Amino acid sequence: MFPKLLTILGLASAALLINGEITSKEAMDIVINFLDSYLYPKNAEVAASVNSTLFAEDVKGTVDVSTNFDGRELATEYLFGLFVNLAKDPTEPSPIGNPIGYEIHAAIAHGNTVFVGVKFDFYYGALNQSFPIEIDALFSINDDLQVQEYDLIFRRWAWATDLIVPRLQYANHDECLTFLNGLPLGQFYRLGENNLGCRYLHTPMLSFRPNVHCPHVGPSGGDMCVPRNYTEVVKAKHFPQGFVTTPLEDRSSHKLGLDRNLEAVNLAD
Ligand SMILES: *[C@@H]1O[C@H](CO)[C@@H](O)[C@H](O)[C@H]1NC(C)=O
Ligand SMILES: *[C@@H]1O[C@H](CO)[C@@H](O)[C@H](O)[C@H]1NC(C)=O
Ligand SMILES: *[C@@H]1O[C@H](CO)[C@@H](O)[C@H](O)[C@H]1NC(C)=O
Repeated sequence: MFPKLLTILGLASAALLINGEITSKEAMDIVINFLDSYLYPKNAEVAASVNSTLFAEDVKGTVDVSTNFDGRELATEYLFGLFVNLAKDPTEPSPIGNPIGYEIHAAIAHGNTVFVGVKFDFYYGALNQSFPIEIDALFSINDDLQVQEYDLIFRRWAWATDLIVPRLQYANHDECLTFLNGLPLGQFYRLGENNLGCRYLHTPMLSFRPNVHCPHVGPSGGDMCVPRNYTEVVKAKHFPQGFVTTPLEDRSSHKLGLDRNLEAVNLAD
């Protein structure tokens, strides 16, 4: 009886060793897979899965620049859902950007516990520019090879955002007021120029398509509220077809082709 029990205990502990402990290599592979999934366009796919099995059902996690995101659903939404709008419209002025590549500069795995120091490339479509973003990440991986715990620390995030966010739009309320107070009200017959009137015109549109209309009220003015040149505006050929029913060639004696005959009179402003 007694030796038999010992045998059973021995088998049980051997089974525990085989099934119950993942190796450092396995844990690291899971983390690499996690980082790959974090990249565009995979990140939007993970978000769409809602309850990503990259995470344990009862995952616990923290992101230092925000707060705790526990449970599979929250973890998926916050870690990956951030990138869904960017997948639809890469030019959305997101203050987060979209990870498009990474380089691991530190990696330590011990059993199921992993630390990685990662330098990502985050692409900011609204700026058409990438910036390096550093994340230090701690993971514990469970026996089902899922992330059981994660602790994500954005290194130098304050510096990064100081640099990037003001270029996307106003950095804060004061900067917005200072900038707008420095602009002319403008004339209400010049609502396509770099003035307050033009920005006002665009405010009702913000809630419809913020990614398109935010730049119009922002410092850049987007492609709407910008300085314009009278001569260029008047002479621009906006209509591919135009509204001429008789070919101009037939009516050359009427000198309709203004730009063939006259030098531009410089009336700028
Ligand atoms: C995700 O998981 C939660 C919690 O188990 C559940 O309530 C929810 O219905 C799931 N959503 C989907 C789309 O599977
Ligand atoms: C983005 O920048 C690259 C050069 O870095 C340029 O070739 C490309 O035309 C730009 N795209 C847009 C949409 O401005
Ligand atoms: C406006 O555009 C015309 C034609 O391109 C140019 O000759 C003129 O210098 C411009 N004026 C200003 C103020 O930029």
